[in-house]
Amino acid sequence: MINEAQIEETLNGLFENPGFAAEPAGLYDPLRYMIGIGGKRVRPRLCLTAYSLFKDSFSDEILQPAAALEVFHTFTLIHDDIMDNSDMRRSQPTVWKKWNGNTAILSGDVMCIDSYRRIAKAPVKVLPQVLELFTATAAQVCEGQQYDMNFEEMKEVPMEDYMKMIGLKTAVLLACSAKLGALIAGADERTCDYLYRFGYSLGLAFQIADDYLDTFGDTNVFGKKIGGDIINNKKSWLLTRAIEKSGEMEKSGVISHSIGKTALQAAMAMKTGNEAERNAKIEKVKSIYVELGIDEDAKYEIIKQHAQAMDFAGMIGLPRVRYEMLHRYADRLLGRTK
Ligand code: IPE
Ligand code: IPE
Ligand code: MG
Ligand code: MG
Ligand code: MG
Repeated sequence: MINEAQIEETLNGLFENPGFAAEPAGLYDPLRYMIGIGGKRVRPRLCLTAYSLFKDSFSDEILQPAAALEVFHTFTLIHDDIMDNSDMRRSQPTVWKKWNGNTAILSGDVMCIDSYRRIAKAPVKVLPQVLELFTATAAQVCEGQQYDMNFEEMKEVPMEDYMKMIGLKTAVLLACSAKLGALIAGADERTCDYLYRFGYSLGLAFQIADDYLDTFGDTNVFGKKIGGDIINNKKSWLLTRAIEKSGEMEKSGVISHSIGKTALQAAMAMKTGNEAERNAKIEKVKSIYVELGIDEDAKYEIIKQHAQAMDFAGMIGLPRVRYEMLHRYADRLLGRTK
């Protein structure tokens, strides 16, 4: 049986020689830069873990498709950082900040194309399903990103719509990663389906944790600037829940107006023209979140989605030791601080 140490070793090997072209450097250097810094590699790790449930050694058939997931994900980050006006990622300057916007667009494009070259190395037998899954997922991520931007312009968003949005921008790629590993390992349709759902629920938990950390994390560990979501009026899980909760409480007269919906909306409308204004807005919104207990609510929701993921994992009917591997993967995500 493959163990976690072998998975980590294989993950490290995936990008030792990423194989990006040398010239023009202006196009390919940002790819080397982003892959070189390296993120948590959550998606290829999930793909390799799912594969390990059915196979006892890694072969070439899984390596490039697993790498494709990370390359595709990294491409979405390069473009996301332009869209979110973020200047720090993985504790380093973002591509648009280090180079410029045009470089980030085109290097992102070629990175997306590179991910297709890699995914196409899946075994011929499952290639049509793999390409269909990957392509549908990629389009969904764009859809989710569009909703994310649409929501910035809206005063409030129903929780149901927020959950659909993060389902698209984030959860489907984790779902796809889990299913891909199983599909390439030759697992049956029912099993692939449960792994998809496992990945989807974990992905929801993962994005809610990301939203939590964007406000309550430690920038040195998280690798991104704290408070970006607040500055952009992102309809994060925290803000969506805060609007919902303060509205409910205000109606029933349970809370003072200082943390009611009107106060929250006033905080959202605070100026962000300079550093001092931005910090004041972050502090104000954060203090309302804490008073409303939104930070604790988020932790509870993350645990709930994690439990849902484990329910799906339980339905596969895996031998105990293999199920435990999925469990450890999920626990590691649950404990994320970066
Ligand atoms: C960031 O993804 C974007 C989200 C979907 C929350 P990760 O948190 O996986 O980023 P890296 O790859 O580890 O940097
Ligand atoms: C990003 O969501 C999701 C995708 C990149 C598709 P965020 O915008 O929250 O991700 P971070 O916080 O910048 O990593
Ligand atoms: Mg974003
Ligand atoms: Mg972002
Ligand atoms: Mg975020």
